[in-house]
Amino acid sequence: MTTQASVPVLTIDGPSGSGKGTIARAVADRLGWSMLDSGAIYRAVGYAAGERKLDLTDAHAVARCAADTRIEFRDPGGGGDTRVVIDGVDATEAIRTETAGAAASAVAALPEVREALVDKQLAFRRPPGLVADGRDMGTVIFPDAPFKVFLTASAAERAERRYKQLKAKGLAVTLANLLHEIEMRDARDASRTVAPLRPAADAVVIDTTGQPIPAVVAAVLAVVRRT
Ligand code: C5P
Repeated sequence: MTTQASVPVLTIDGPSGSGKGTIARAVADRLGWSMLDSGAIYRAVGYAAGERKLDLTDAHAVARCAADTRIEFRDPGGGGDTRVVIDGVDATEAIRTETAGAAASAVAALPEVREALVDKQLAFRRPPGLVADGRDMGTVIFPDAPFKVFLTASAAERAERRYKQLKAKGLAVTLANLLHEIEMRDARDASRTVAPLRPAADAVVIDTTGQPIPAVVAAVLAVVRRT
């Protein structure tokens, strides 16, 4: 019988723009494992709380919203991007805006909200394996994961990557603003009292500054395959 604890997990944590999403997707595809985009879950909660016009500092109201919002990840098939469906409504694009990112970061700072989301995240651990992308995957959600990676990159490079991504989507953004937002968000994520952003003691830290994607994918796969 397969117990949940026997399902291998690779945790990929790191700050925004460190390349986690792209790397996690590529590595999950190579391993044939499923994927948990935990940032999308926090974004979905920030978005749902906004839709319900909740005060984002009201921990109990937002935690209730986190517990009863239905968040589904749907594979559209044909290699398309995973769709994020919130209470039956496709919110894939809506949760990717900078406003939604800021709302996610605000609700993620509330311990009650993080607690309400633990079981939803653990449920993704299914055979043959899971690649879990986030901030506290290796430290809090899957502390027993056999494979842990922490990706970093300079703030300037992360802002640059984000700038290109958003520009490609036709959004009006400036590099200076993005750099400022990234620095603010990093500071908030690293200084919060609950699940602050830091590498797990047993994580392999990989600096992706100036590194092409295939090189980072290879370095992460090497962590899984070294055993
Ligand atoms: O990774 P992404 O930018 O989509 O995450 C949005 C926000 O959700 C982050 O800035 C962070 O505040 C929060 N988050 C978190 N813990 C996670 C994943 C995301 O606190 N495991």
